[in-house]
Amino acid sequence: MRVTLCFGGSILARDGPDVELFQKVGRVLRRLKQAHHELLVVVGGGRPSRVYIRAGRELGAPNKLCDVLGIEVTRLNARLLTIAIGKDALQDPPVSIEAAVKATFRGKIPVMGGTTPGQTTDAVAAALANSSRSELLVYFVDVGGVYTSDPKEDPGAERIPEMRSSELLELAGGAEVKPGMVGVIDPVAARIIYRSRIRTLVLGKEEIDRLPEILKGAEHSGTTILPSD
Ligand code: UTP
Repeated sequence: MRVTLCFGGSILARDGPDVELFQKVGRVLRRLKQAHHELLVVVGGGRPSRVYIRAGRELGAPNKLCDVLGIEVTRLNARLLTIAIGKDALQDPPVSIEAAVKATFRGKIPVMGGTTPGQTTDAVAAALANSSRSELLVYFVDVGGVYTSDPKEDPGAERIPEMRSSELLELAGGAEVKPGMVGVIDPVAARIIYRSRIRTLVLGKEEIDRLPEILKGAEHSGTTILPSD
């Protein structure tokens, strides 16, 4: 199966790179490739990206330049995951969707960070899944799924086990994209998922080891987003 995977920086590099988690992800991705899955991978920036964005802002950088700082950090994390995967990964993280898709023709796993200001790596992953005609898009996020409201702020927030992409669009769509913004799936990504009708899973890091079974259809503890009618 061709699958696009997005690892949120908030799990891979919460405060800085979590080396053990990078190793674990590298192992699982190698295993999936051995099982003949075609993989495309996107990595977020985590807190380090917000630290750089804040510093840039304090120095007077406009939003676009703050985004560029964030993108650089996502690319650093992408390079680290490339190292963790080893020879199965494309050696240099691609900087465009087109270059990432091309890498799959050579049998390599492309691991990329951000591309353009005004979005997050969620949108990069959705665009990559669309361009590569992936059958499935999987997000690994720190809260482990999509909730009725922000679970970090609202103790009454409930995880949604299954939803339609139109509902995701409604939940995410209203938010404005700001450098370093926090939210489960960004509105640009929600729109691409809705329009391209890609089946999408939103999972927590505890499901990383179970990815091989989940790709075969096993139950999971996150959210399944199905195309709207
Ligand atoms: P992330 O994708 O890491 O955003 O990009 P995030 O929502 O903080 O996700 P986590 O915490 O990693 O899971 C970090 C920042 O980099 C810029 C944005 O400012 C974003 O907030 N960025 C990233 C872009 O401008 N364009 C991109 O394509 C990617």
